[in-house]
Amino acid sequence: MEKDFIEIINSYDFIPNKQKIIESINKPKDIYFRVNVIKDSEEKILRALKRYNIDYTKVDFIDGYYKLNLNNNQLIELSKTVEHLFGFIYIQEISSAISIDTLFKTIYDNISNKDNLVIVDLCASPGGKSILIADRLYRNNKKLFKNLVLISNDIGQRIENLLTNIIRLGLLNVIVTNCDARFFPKLNKNVDIVIADVPCSSESHIIDKMYYSSKKHPKFINRITNIQKDILLRAYSISNNYIIYSTCTFNLYENEEIVDNLLFKTKNVCILKPVLGKANFEKGVVKYNEITFNKELEKAVRIYPYQYNSGGIFFSILSKNDPYENLSNTISFANLIDIKELNEFFIVNNKVIFDNYLSHFGMDFNIVNDYIFFQKIKNKKDDNLTNLLKEDIYITLLKSYLKKEKGPLKVEAFGIKAFRYVKPINSFKITSNLLSIFSKYITKNYVSLKFDLNLLIDFLLRKKIELKSEYFEEIDIGSYPYVAVKFNDLVIGCALNYKDYIISEIPTGKANFLISALTKKS
Ligand SMILES: C[S@@+](CC[C@H](N)C(=O)[O-])C[C@H]1O[C@@H](n2cnc3c(N)ncnc32)[C@H](O)[C@@H]1O
Repeated sequence: MEKDFIEIINSYDFIPNKQKIIESINKPKDIYFRVNVIKDSEEKILRALKRYNIDYTKVDFIDGYYKLNLNNNQLIELSKTVEHLFGFIYIQEISSAISIDTLFKTIYDNISNKDNLVIVDLCASPGGKSILIADRLYRNNKKLFKNLVLISNDIGQRIENLLTNIIRLGLLNVIVTNCDARFFPKLNKNVDIVIADVPCSSESHIIDKMYYSSKKHPKFINRITNIQKDILLRAYSISNNYIIYSTCTFNLYENEEIVDNLLFKTKNVCILKPVLGKANFEKGVVKYNEITFNKELEKAVRIYPYQYNSGGIFFSILSKNDPYENLSNTISFANLIDIKELNEFFIVNNKVIFDNYLSHFGMDFNIVNDYIFFQKIKNKKDDNLTNLLKEDIYITLLKSYLKKEKGPLKVEAFGIKAFRYVKPINSFKITSNLLSIFSKYITKNYVSLKFDLNLLIDFLLRKKIELKSEYFEEIDIGSYPYVAVKFNDLVIGCALNYKDYIISEIPTGKANFLISALTKKS
């Protein structure tokens, strides 16, 4: 296996330092993470990590990223911390982060004055790049963030990871779709950015893939390049402006050659000069032995694993020269429709949500009013709606819903469940996800568990936790039946308030997952 890998790398003379890649084979890679400021403040989240003796260094060229400094006093692995499990941080290879951050820096001046933004991520699972582009907007332009429509697409079972991460990170601008990217339908709205982070031979992670051999590798590359070409051509067709193409592999066939093919087949597309700031990188390859690619490919970016002791990446930021179309007369196969116009949803009055639920947690009406709360109308007879339906209530920031007209698109999810309708008691229960999404806004009606993992496990096991100072750092509750529960000063969910004690409302499935992560030996 290792021999095969060395053989593959040794055949790539265009890599400036092949030897360093080979040397890095058995070396543990550095771990990088981003702080999810959509849920809570950077300062609070970093302070929380310090309590596990987790040590980190700020990455100086990319906002919100930190490199983990391993040390023997660390109480728990980063990926098993409550902060990771509840989406306050996202662990990501720095090369991946650089690609989307560079896209953002390169095009930001041209998009910053727009009223809204439509982004399609064609191969999105597990969601790292989708969530990062939303994070860049949130950090730089809250107004545009609120008017972002992010369509995150993937196929097959990988959709599950994508959905889990979107809920974990609390992203409310996303429509998740399930469609072969090669046939992703044209939308009836202009699409500003298409992300094509295509499936690839993943040479920068090849060492993890035991099924690779130098014999099978060329066959795999042959097969995958056809898919990559088609996905990029589709990205070009559905985009009205920017496209980013990326892989985590080194060979030229899956990288420069795919982009070169697009440049050859289309006339109105160019590669943008990437704004990388202080990040280290290599330029795309334009000439290698007897192969010559379009000179534009010099503006593509290559990052090798040895540059950051992390993953590697190839990416190229493309722009179509005749951007926005008047789409009213064109045939589109999927409609982005204002959700308020649809008879599939009942839009709940925000005042009802505020007065009955969220005002009790010290939230401001203006915050609540930014969101849309809706119920799915399952019974068509339910017209003339004035009150709440006996259905779950979802929360979203999206004003548009994606409806397929023709073609293969399947809309998997839209919005996050905020209130669960409980039939036997004929009332609504606040979900833990809702309170965790609003972590930074909750200033009242909460308890803060002591920093004790055994206590946390007892809480997750739904044991009664008596409201005594020995279990809590802070108790700020009245008679409202629900309380927000903080751990390490960050809201992880909801509990029922029985006056003398509380009982967790975190769903059993999630609680069991957390308990097993917290108790598993590393
Ligand atoms: C490199 S991964 C994407 C990683 C993701 N962009 C991130 O940053 O977290 C490639 C993804 O492409 C998906 N994929 C493979 N073939 C596809 C196709 N024909 N259409 C859509 N997605 C596809 C795979 O399921 C996989 O999740």
